[in-house]
Amino acid sequence: MSACSRIVLAGRPAGAPTLDNFHVETGPIPVPASGQLLVRTLYLSLDPYVRGRMSIAPSYAQPIAIGDPIEGEVVAEVVQSRSSEYLEGDLVRSKVGWCTHATIRPEHARRVQVGSVPITAHLGVLGMPGFTAYVGMKVIGQPKPGETVAVSAAAGPVGSLVGQLAKLAGARVVGIAGSAAKCHFLVSALGFDAALDRHTEDFSRALQDLCPEGVDIYFENAGGAIWPAVLPLLNRYARVPVCGLVALYNSAQQMGRDSLSETMLAVLRRSLLIRGFINSEFASEHYSQFLREIGPLVANGRIRYREHIVEGLESAPSAFIGMLEGRNFGKLLVKVANA
Ligand SMILES: NC(=O)c1ccc[n+]([C@@H]2O[C@H](COP(=O)([O-])OP(=O)(O)OC[C@H]3O[C@@H](n4cnc5c(N)ncnc54)[C@H](OP(=O)(O)O)[C@@H]3O)[C@@H](O)[C@H]2O)c1
Repeated sequence: MSACSRIVLAGRPAGAPTLDNFHVETGPIPVPASGQLLVRTLYLSLDPYVRGRMSIAPSYAQPIAIGDPIEGEVVAEVVQSRSSEYLEGDLVRSKVGWCTHATIRPEHARRVQVGSVPITAHLGVLGMPGFTAYVGMKVIGQPKPGETVAVSAAAGPVGSLVGQLAKLAGARVVGIAGSAAKCHFLVSALGFDAALDRHTEDFSRALQDLCPEGVDIYFENAGGAIWPAVLPLLNRYARVPVCGLVALYNSAQQMGRDSLSETMLAVLRRSLLIRGFINSEFASEHYSQFLREIGPLVANGRIRYREHIVEGLESAPSAFIGMLEGRNFGKLLVKVANA
């Protein structure tokens, strides 16, 4: 390929992002400076947190500037190395953004080992989303045998690992997902004990029926209408790792429906632990152990995962918009180039 393409932020969304918010730019392939690597993207990860970066609202990280590439992590091949740490042909993971090529410093890359698992797993079950599930359960959730664990966005890369880790710990797992097909997958392929479509009529009653012993851990990936249904079911000393609130990312107008008074009363009366977290705060302490523990389980098939791969960098905006509506089924990736 003789040109570099990148997708930049063309405008900030008001509500759900639209294709107008993205702009494809084409230019020359960048030239690496001394000590740098030129990498060619093979797979790009699309992640819900990027919606937050598209807004100017204060968050735990800086917003993307208008005209800058949309943020995202890739698995890429080193095509030119001006560093002694990497050779041409090596594979790396790096947060270069939505682009076909980039120059990076080696300290901003993590080596991808080729062999025991497909390289795409390093953006999902063995990458940032997998680590998020692992650390949220290990540090905050702490599942015990016989407990009931509920998880929202359960068919995504975070939720599906949360459920499988809970099963390995001997807990009973109820997944909440956005379609009958996803619910079937959770039970039949991932071994969840039950799953519930979040669009089910009388969702609260249906969830209660699936959790006759209450809920000891609710792994919150969604927010919105699911929380008021889960809250009455939380047992004494229940833990709630607040990992994501994807139902709220597109609109600030839903903020009023969140039962704050009921939540605070329940926190007090039932000694609940509600703890928000960003995976990166735990990386230095837990990342290596995560790979040591979960890597072999993925390689031997004990932990399973599903991917949803779209073709071509130009597909990224529409796939990303669809993910925020639940149209992805598994870890959403863009195949940008052949390995
Ligand atoms: N704290 C951290 O460090 C961290 C790191 C990674 C991810 N996260 C968060 O974890 C969550 C899951 O991430 P992921 O990468 O695994 O994404 P994902 O599940 O692949 O995609 C997001 C899913 O959210 C669900 N969703 C969309 N709108 C919803 C709504 N109104 N109500 C309920 N669910 C809705 C959809 O699934 P269904 O249609 O099947 O429900 C959609 O597929 C996200 O909130 C993300 O921001 C947090």
